Amino acid sequence: MPPRTAVPPHRRPPLVVTSDGDLLDDLLRLAAAGGVEVEVATDPAAARTRWQPAPLVLVGTDQAQPCLRARLPRRSRLVLVGRAGDVESGWQVADLLGAEHVAVLPAAEPWLVDRFTECGVEGAATARVVAVLGGRGGAGASILAGGLAVTAARARLRTLLLDADPLGGGLDLVLGWEQLEGLRWPALTGADGRVDAPALVRALPSRGDLVVLSWDRGDLVAVPAEAMAATLDAARRGRDFVVVDLPRQLDDAAVTALQAADRVFVVVPAELRATAAAARVVAAAAPHCHDLSVIVRGPAPGGLRAIEVARALGLTLAGTLRPEPGLCRGLERGEAPAAGGRGPLAELCQRIVADLTGQRAAGAA
Ligand SMILES: Nc1ncnc2c1ncn2[C@@H]1O[C@H](COP(=O)(O)OP(=O)(O)OP(=O)(O)O)[C@@H](O)[C@H]1O
Ligand SMILES: [Mg+2]
Repeated sequence: MPPRTAVPPHRRPPLVVTSDGDLLDDLLRLAAAGGVEVEVATDPAAARTRWQPAPLVLVGTDQAQPCLRARLPRRSRLVLVGRAGDVESGWQVADLLGAEHVAVLPAAEPWLVDRFTECGVEGAATARVVAVLGGRGGAGASILAGGLAVTAARARLRTLLLDADPLGGGLDLVLGWEQLEGLRWPALTGADGRVDAPALVRALPSRGDLVVLSWDRGDLVAVPAEAMAATLDAARRGRDFVVVDLPRQLDDAAVTALQAADRVFVVVPAELRATAAAARVVAAAAPHCHDLSVIVRGPAPGGLRAIEVARALGLTLAGTLRPEPGLCRGLERGEAPAAGGRGPLAELCQRIVADLTGQRAAGAA
């Protein structure tokens, strides 16, 4: 069974990075006053995997230089915290670290309690995030991602479909949206701080409750992990449901998305070689996933059963997809997957969206 180490993203606690026992005692007391528990890392090495997913990071002045030297990525909601006297030397480091605030204790105690309280408030970042990746090329991951997003929007969830596969050809094409005006990835790759959620949603191509962040047909550019983190952070605050289509070759941005996802699905055709290829994808992805399961897509030319594929991968079987020739014809005509609300793909997507959110699409069983 692959390891599943991560904590559910929507319940992640703030992160405190300090090895100063007195400062830690103060911060634990303030967190308790704000009604949240915190995770504690005594140095940057211990902080690294929790740095991006945490909703708030407080770095003690004792660990500011070490964090800088460790080149932890810039992120939003980063606060340098220390006592009057220690903090003065921390101003320049705060700037270099990209800290939004320097909190000087004891004066900043009420302000810090408010920040902790925000982290515990349901609604600060409530969107459910689902990520999809293919077990081999052409597995059906992008079509499933599109189907999930269309289905969530049909259920009146404010949805973002996020294309994280630079070589995928553009998810706007999967929806038949390539002519729609709006922002594409290249314009956002410089984002590294707090992205304004309403402004992001207004700028993206949209129809009804669905907005899409896709590639354009220009030069190939990489999405830095910081840009992915900032975009996901805005999406979690500004949307109800986020679907991320990931590349099989995981880059830093894809890892950031896997860590942020409540559920990750790997789509695997019901074939022996596809299962062998998927085993490699699963081995690379699983350490970053909170909840990874498999969706098996037919036909099964050799009679391989979905449950056998799941067992071979050591994953739970989240669903199956029967062959759906009409879907391919529709895609060629520019019809979005699952748009009609009928057929195996639409039904699977309805079940997944309902499981995660309790919302059902109009007309869904
Ligand atoms: N549910 C489905 N039913 C029938 N055909 C499908 C389905 N899903 C995908 N296909 C077919 O498989 C093709 C590849 O699907 P898709 O682009 O979703 O795969 P992928 O895993 O994202 O591939 P890539 O490796 O390019 O990212 C589609 O163009 C379509 O023809
Ligand atoms: Mg794809």
